[in-house]
Amino acid sequence: MTADSHKLWGGRFAAPTAHALDALNRSIATDFRLWPFDIRLSQAWASALAEAGVLTEEERDQIRGGLDVVAEKLAKGAQPEGSDEDVHTMIDRMLHIEIGEPASRLHTGRSRNDQVATATRMWTMDASARVDTAVQALQRVMLEHAERLRATLIPAYTHMQRAQPVSAAHWMLSHFWPLERDRIRVANAAASAATLPLGSGAIAGCAFPVPRDQIRKELGFASISRNSIDATGDRDFVADMLYAMTMLGVHLSRLSEDLILYGSSEFGFVTFGDTFSTGSSMMPQKRNPDALEIARGSAGRMLGNLTSIVATIKSLPSGYNKDLQDDKRPMFDSVDTMLLILPAVAGTLGELRFNEQRMRAALSSSMMATDLADYLVAKGTSFREAHGVVGTLIRTSETNGVELDKMPFKTFAAAHPSFDHDVFDWLSPDASVARRNVPGGTGPDAVDDQIAAAHSALGAAVRRLQLIP
Ligand code: ARG
Repeated sequence: MTADSHKLWGGRFAAPTAHALDALNRSIATDFRLWPFDIRLSQAWASALAEAGVLTEEERDQIRGGLDVVAEKLAKGAQPEGSDEDVHTMIDRMLHIEIGEPASRLHTGRSRNDQVATATRMWTMDASARVDTAVQALQRVMLEHAERLRATLIPAYTHMQRAQPVSAAHWMLSHFWPLERDRIRVANAAASAATLPLGSGAIAGCAFPVPRDQIRKELGFASISRNSIDATGDRDFVADMLYAMTMLGVHLSRLSEDLILYGSSEFGFVTFGDTFSTGSSMMPQKRNPDALEIARGSAGRMLGNLTSIVATIKSLPSGYNKDLQDDKRPMFDSVDTMLLILPAVAGTLGELRFNEQRMRAALSSSMMATDLADYLVAKGTSFREAHGVVGTLIRTSETNGVELDKMPFKTFAAAHPSFDHDVFDWLSPDASVARRNVPGGTGPDAVDDQIAAAHSALGAAVRRLQLIP
């Protein structure tokens, strides 16, 4: 049986809690990190109780001041005690040590149900701002590369087969825009968290006339919950945040996969730097892109975390149920992991060297087959007929082992009467890229516009809610 502890409940029990339940039920190891938010919401609650006439102004000030002292101690490294069930119990215990009796008045009209929902929402809003900053740092590295790689050409692949030549900046920025969408998803998760549950009590609402809008303002929430049953049992915002982390993880995984492939000796398009590579304990020659591999691997765990919270919410009866205590573990894991991955991927990308010759050497003239068909279209042939003609030329090129641009003009002339000597101008990768200046294309003007758009996207303020200064 457990030793006598500072519990927020227990009067109705004749026997102490069994160790086995206590060990299972205790959440302090996970939720300890919520303490800065629990302190702030408790201070706001003390003010609200004073407005409602439950606390005197003196008691309110004692409680708020006492919580400041508790926060200072925690900031200096004070740790939970073995008997603390969760962060709310711990802060209540510490407040009693600081100010004595008035501390017993703070938990009036509130429950840990509305308390933990409020603290977790505040944590989510704060985390979304930290993730947003880290994503932008990575995007900035991408933009710097894109600016340098404007005129560098690289093969673009479909089905992992050489498709068409593109500007390397275009390829780099193809990984920028998904992150931009992820920033919006992260901001949406913060907006979803920005509804205040405090004042909902355990399930039915607070019996004292607390000014909920005053609490909302003090804590930086956008709105107050409309229904206390919903407010105490709603963890949609956790699922939203985990979905945002999962998509971000998936996008980082795809970027990583490209870089890992391009860094292999077979491709040789990029070389990894020293400070973000690891070696092998056995093979002295190895230079391994571990950060990228961990990023790729972690996306799977993030998907697991998303699945976990959705499965937890599904089939829960309305109101708070203890199942919900396990909302924080997956969310903290995904966000913690993301905040480790983002700087490491940014660092890896930052010291990457692009090997322009290797990229150019990978551009075979058959990649201009579409351009060749477009050439015939420009001379009045239908695309379908042109496609067939070029297909025959490709077959000839493969059979004879001669690149398209090295084949004699008479082969082209025999394939179709519209071919003229200028056909060879259409077979250069630079010309192929230069022709694609449609907005969103890989042509030089289009890429310049894209780079400018990326700069302004980064500059534009996605709604940010920074709750801890
Ligand atoms: N540690 C709990 C959690 O994280 C706090 C809420 C507990 N509520 C209760 N009625 N036991 O969900």
